[in-house]
Amino acid sequence: GKVRAPTHIISTISDDRGEEPCYAGVPMSSIVEQGYGVGDVISLLWFKRSLPRYCTHFIEICIMLCADHGPCVSGAHNTIVTARAGKDLVSSLVSGLLTIGPRFGGAIDDAARYFKDAYDRGLTPYEFVESMKKKGIRVPGIGHRIKRGDNRDKRVELLQQFAHTHFPSVKYMEYAVQVETYTLSKANNLVLNVDGAIGSLFLDLLAGSGMFSKQEIDEIVGIGYLNGLFVLARSIGLIGHTFDQKRLKQPLYRHPWEDVLYTKLVFCRGKLQV
Ligand code: ACO
Ligand code: LMR
Repeated sequence: GKVRAPTHIISTISDDRGEEPCYAGVPMSSIVEQGYGVGDVISLLWFKRSLPRYCTHFIEICIMLCADHGPCVSGAHNTIVTARAGKDLVSSLVSGLLTIGPRFGGAIDDAARYFKDAYDRGLTPYEFVESMKKKGIRVPGIGHRIKRGDNRDKRVELLQQFAHTHFPSVKYMEYAVQVETYTLSKANNLVLNVDGAIGSLFLDLLAGSGMFSKQEIDEIVGIGYLNGLFVLARSIGLIGHTFDQKRLKQPLYRHPWEDVLYTKLVFCRGKLQV
């Protein structure tokens, strides 16, 4: 019989060999003719299937809500400084993207992992939060620099409202809200943040849509697809900040001396003292 020569690359999401490119088997002409949006394209290229409209709409809302959060956040700050150092678009963009991680924007996957594990094991919010504390791990998806119990994040509310109206089940989100109720009883800044809202709601999307097997959900959560939503979304804002600085012909940034505490550092019982 025929022997297939081994290939160096295996690819399963797209194919450009025919008359027109296909995303997960769907030709580009269908994507355009059927009025697909960016949520559909993400469904095809990330999840390799067409998802129901409420799911693709949810993905699009996540992207719109996370596109930017002003010039002061870590990512935009880095991008602005880089653009003002005269660097090009790609350098300015990636300089901002590189700040996305466990503290800023990149806590979505861990939020999904920890909320799922705690909910599936039947831990009460108290047991979950206290077990994290014992391990010395901050609860991903909880806490914000400027948002408070009495000044909630509007983005979180909007995502929750959408899910309440359109999702068949919001059990993971409800669990995250119970966790927030407990953490807020400890400190007023320990709100459910946008990473935690997306992480818990995406679990509801995966589990409730009937489009994914249990094994596929474990794989998506295990590999960590969800920080990709923030990376993709925030790229829109970071590109905007780059253009803004160039348009404004902003000079090289130098941080003011007055805003730096110049001092000798002393370590006391393992903690940095000034
Ligand atoms: N879980 C448990 N305790 C917490 C948490 C948390 N998620 N966040 C803060 N605390 C407590 C801790 O006791 C902390 O003391 P420590 O420094 O001894 O650990 C105390 O609150 C004060 O913490 P700060 O560092 O002053 O809080 P800050 O306002 O600087 O941190 C941050 C905000 C980085 C978001 C933090 O809450 C955190 O790490 N959260 C988890 C990661 C996360 O979800 N990041 C995404 C934020 S949303 C976004 O970026 C789009
Ligand atoms: C963001 O979306 O960038 C934020 O929630 C982080 C912040 O510090 O506001």
